[in-house]
Amino acid sequence: MAKGFLCKLALVAVVIGLSAVLSVSSNSEGDALHAFRRSLSDPLNVLQSWDPTLVNPCTWFHITCNQDNRVTRIDLGNSNLSGSLVPELGRLEHLQYLELYKNRIGGSIPEEFGNLKSLISMDLYNNNITGEIPRSLGNLKSLVFLRLNNNSLTGQIPRELTKISNLKVSDVSNNDLCGTIPTTGPFERFPMTNFENNPRLRGPELQGGAAYDSGC
Ligand SMILES: *[C@@H]1O[C@H](CO)[C@@H](O)[C@H](O)[C@H]1NC(C)=O
Ligand SMILES: *[C@@H]1O[C@H](CO)[C@@H](O)[C@H](O)[C@H]1NC(C)=O
Ligand SMILES: *[C@@H]1O[C@H](CO)[C@@H](O)[C@H](O)[C@H]1NC(C)=O
Repeated sequence: MAKGFLCKLALVAVVIGLSAVLSVSSNSEGDALHAFRRSLSDPLNVLQSWDPTLVNPCTWFHITCNQDNRVTRIDLGNSNLSGSLVPELGRLEHLQYLELYKNRIGGSIPEEFGNLKSLISMDLYNNNITGEIPRSLGNLKSLVFLRLNNNSLTGQIPRELTKISNLKVSDVSNNDLCGTIPTTGPFERFPMTNFENNPRLRGPELQGGAAYDSGC
């Protein structure tokens, strides 16, 4: 009798534990997005539908999910948002399009964005982003479009970016970068206009010429 009761109790505990784990994992992308919402100021209320109590964020405006209810797209260009990016966004491992251009977002690009392994497009142009371009972005093997122009980025262009073989567009113009412009990998093909208006950025790196960090 006592044994049977203990058995049932153990079973109930396992079921409760399992459902807690499942609900946490299904909502973790919503939690990451909600952390982002909390860091933003949203005068036009474009994030009003972002209700963290829903099972997933797939019905929220400006969010797109795949058939497995994983977030694939954030569309918040031109939305008058200010505030900053958050490391939690790095958890969105199915995210393909991060569209946050033409806002007034400040702060730096979190290191954790290097975990966005499905990312195709990172559009952060026309914001007020500061700090350095993280080296970890070199891990984004799916990346095709990297538009960081018209911000206040400093430091060098990380050489890790030359290893992203799919990269078709990389625009870092109108920032405050320094050092030299890489010339290998996809950087062989980028026009010089994608680097202009960085007063401390030197011309293309030549064999044995200017050092990688010259002017920094
Ligand atoms: C965006 O925000 C700025 C500053 O808060 C404000 O002046 C401007 O009117 C806003 N734009 C729109 C379309 O509401
Ligand atoms: C933010 O960036 C815009 C251009 O994107 C610029 O006009 C504005 O002065 C910047 N604001 C601050 C506080 O840096
Ligand atoms: C970026 O800034 C430059 C220089 O201020 C400006 O001419 C250009 O129009 C801006 N680009 C965009 C996309 O607004």
